[in-house]
Amino acid sequence: MTASNPSSNPLANKSQAWSALFSEPMSELVQRYTASVGFDKRLWRADIDGSLAHARMLAAQSIISAQDLADIERGMAQIAGEIERGEFTWKLELEDVHLNIEARLTELVGLAGKRLHTGRSRNDQVATDVRLWLRAEIDGLTPLLVAMQRALVELAAQHTDTVMPGFTHLQVAQPVSFAHHLLAYVEMFARDAERLVDVRKRVNRLPLGAAALAGTSYPLDREAVARSLGFDGVCENSLDAVSDRDFALEFASFASICMVHVSRLSEEIVLWMSQNFGFIDLADRYCTGSSIMPQKRNPDVAELARGKTGRVVGHLMGLLTLMKGQPLTYNKDNQEDKEPLFDTVDTLRDTLRIMAEMCAGIVVKPEAMERAALRGYATATDLADYLVKKGLPFRDAHEAVAHAVKVAIGQGVDLAQLPLATLQGFHPSIADDVFAVLTLRGSMNARQVRGGTAPEQARAQVARHRQRLG
Ligand code: ARG
Repeated sequence: MTASNPSSNPLANKSQAWSALFSEPMSELVQRYTASVGFDKRLWRADIDGSLAHARMLAAQSIISAQDLADIERGMAQIAGEIERGEFTWKLELEDVHLNIEARLTELVGLAGKRLHTGRSRNDQVATDVRLWLRAEIDGLTPLLVAMQRALVELAAQHTDTVMPGFTHLQVAQPVSFAHHLLAYVEMFARDAERLVDVRKRVNRLPLGAAALAGTSYPLDREAVARSLGFDGVCENSLDAVSDRDFALEFASFASICMVHVSRLSEEIVLWMSQNFGFIDLADRYCTGSSIMPQKRNPDVAELARGKTGRVVGHLMGLLTLMKGQPLTYNKDNQEDKEPLFDTVDTLRDTLRIMAEMCAGIVVKPEAMERAALRGYATATDLADYLVKKGLPFRDAHEAVAHAVKVAIGQGVDLAQLPLATLQGFHPSIADDVFAVLTLRGSMNARQVRGGTAPEQARAQVARHRQRLG
């Protein structure tokens, strides 16, 4: 960037960027403290798109000339090229992405560059840029959420008959299929996807036209700008338009919930892969070794995904705290919205991508799952239900089965391994049809209620998700 005469380009010297009122330049420390260009340059494309839409509207409304518009378009095309090629010189003294681009524009095209900001403020400009940027990121996340669900659905499709212990309190509770367990996560990620669609609606509103806070006296056509930028509508109150960041809070909430789901799944993967469970194995490319223990294969990816959840939830807390207590309208505090938001998007994107890949490659060990289910008297409830069907009140049945489990534990055998005569000692109505319900599969197959763990039900879930996910 060539040096330019500060008097012809007020932005070239930031102490004059806002007015001739200032009698001394900003201190270097203050400059560094207040600048955001180091991170908000990431918004450059949204900034240029927003400026072009604004300029086209200004020309259509005869607020600037067709020649000014042509100059602005030419200058912006050059700037976009410079940024893409890494040739653009970002200047800390120009504070942020907006002033950097505007200063370069003025340097390139002169007066037209100075006219671009007519009827606009950085307050409505930055709100617009962040919304445009976030909308594009949301559109990039949507297919990743689909891929995550697909990976789990396809793994589930192969395991509708694979029995594992279902847990409550991490104690073996009842047998469920591995498919059923995975499909629980699909439900969670499906709700996350719904939430994201909903967040997008409120992100996709145009602040431009609010100017600094009160609106503008120029005859702007806000609807035209909204249409050309693909917004669903305009922010209806100028004060709200420049100060609202709840679209970011909502996004961070969505992301936090989604990461919490990822974290729960990660925790299960870590447990399942430990020698004590041995339910699954992960491909080597998702594991790391230990520098001291040669036998180790660690599920680092799952652990990191679990850990990064703290970071995303932290960003939500940071953003909520940032907004709390801010009076209307724009306050410089809002500049602090970007880094947490950027990092939330980056973390969630990378995490979803890697988790979907890793889950698709899970190697299941059905025998280990089945053995674990057998160890925990997982069919005790089925025995109680059997007795109820023979006419016992449920509480009495529950009591009789508790005795049976106690005896089985004492003998170190499963309920199904107790001889019929022993079982009949707990209640005379027990007959040899009892063994059908005492097996893991018998228990699982019996849970035919909609949403239950019977293989037919899991297959129905798989079919429904496949259809939904396309
Ligand atoms: N860099 C600022 C931000 O990110 C842009 C808006 C500045 N507006 C202002 N009046 N200082 O929020």
